[in-house]
Amino acid sequence: FKQKTAYEIMPSLVGSEMCIRDRMKGMTNKKRILSGVQPTGDLHIGNWLGAISNWVALQEKHETFLCVVDLHAITTEYDPKQLSKNTLSTAALYVACGIDPKICSIFVQSQISAHSELCWILNCMTPINWMERMIQFKEKSVQQGNNVSIGLFDYPILMAADILLYDADYVPVGEDQKQHLELARDIAQQRINAKFSKGENILKIPQPIIMKKGSKIMSLNDGSKKMSKSDINEGSRINLLDTPEIITKKIKRAKSDSYMGMEFNNPERPESRNLLMIYSLLSGKEVSELENDLSQTGWGTFKKIFTEQLIESLKPIQERYQVLINDPYELNKILIEGKEKAEAVANKTLSRVKSELGFFEMEK
Ligand code: TRP
Repeated sequence: FKQKTAYEIMPSLVGSEMCIRDRMKGMTNKKRILSGVQPTGDLHIGNWLGAISNWVALQEKHETFLCVVDLHAITTEYDPKQLSKNTLSTAALYVACGIDPKICSIFVQSQISAHSELCWILNCMTPINWMERMIQFKEKSVQQGNNVSIGLFDYPILMAADILLYDADYVPVGEDQKQHLELARDIAQQRINAKFSKGENILKIPQPIIMKKGSKIMSLNDGSKKMSKSDINEGSRINLLDTPEIITKKIKRAKSDSYMGMEFNNPERPESRNLLMIYSLLSGKEVSELENDLSQTGWGTFKKIFTEQLIESLKPIQERYQVLINDPYELNKILIEGKEKAEAVANKTLSRVKSELGFFEMEK
C-alpha cells in the first residue's frame, strides 16, 4: 500500500508539557499514539484512507494503542445483536488493513472499565457550557430527533477519557474530531492539572495529528458531503468488504457531471475532485499527474479504471480479513494481548488520578 502519510501536527496546539509518566517511562523513547474507530456497521474506504492507513504509517515509530470504541457506538440507537459481531469485525479489519498486532495494542474499549470510570470523574470536572459548544453533538442530535441520549452529549468526555488514560502524546484523527481533541486538552490542563497537580502534571496533554488528505473522502452521491457510515444511502460509500460486483455497481451509479476530463480544483466539480483524491491515494500517484493523464478522459472510462483500482486495492485487505475472521482463536488472542497491555497502562493512570484527586485508598 503506497499511500503517502498525509498528516501534520497543528502548530497552534504543539506544546511539550512534561507529566509524571514521562519520568516513569524512562527507557522507551517512542512517543505514544492512541486512536480508535466506532464499530458501527461496516468500515468504509473513508475510515481506511482517513484513519487506519495513517495508523499503519505511524505504528513502527510509535508505541501504538488502537481501540474499538464500542461504548461510543451505543450513544445512538444500535442493534444489540450486531454490536459484538461489529466489534470483532472492526478489530479484524484493523489487522487486515496492515496494523501489526505484534507491535500495536488492539483492544476493545468496553473491556477496560477504567474508560467508564475516568469518564465519570471527568464529567464531574467539566463545565456544562463547554459541552454545549460541541458541533458534532449539535449535528448528531438533529439527526436523532427527540431521541437524544445523555450518552450522546457525553460522547466527547468519554473520548477524552480514552485518550488521557494512555498519556497519549499524539492522537491521529480526522478534521471533524479537532474540537473533541481541544476539549480533551482543556479538561486535562485546566480542570485536572491546574486544579489538582501538586508538582508535576497529573495528565499528559495530547497533541492532535490532523489527517488532511484522507479525512476528506466524500460521499459518492454528493461530493460536498463526507462519506459516512450513518448515511442511509448504501450507495454513498464503498465498504471495505464490498464484493467486486457491488463496487462496480456503486461506482457506476456514483454521481458524475457533464464535463469532459477529470479535474481536481474546479469548485463546480466536487465529485471529480473526490474520485481523483481516492484514486491518487489508492494508486500512489500524484493528483497533478493524474489530472494530466486524465484531462481528456470521460467519466465512463475513468469510472472503469477507478473501479479496477479499487477492487485491486481492496483485494488483499479482504483476503486477510477472511483468514482472520475465520480464525476466532487468533483474533481472540490478539484482543486478549491488546487488552492486557492497554489495561496495565490505563489502570495506572486511573489510580494516579484518583489518588491525586483525593479518593480513599485502601491500606495494602
Ligand atoms: N470520535 C472518534 C471518531 O468518531 C472515535 C473515537 C473515540 C476516538 N475515542 C477516541 C478517536 C479516542 C481517537 C481517540 O472518529
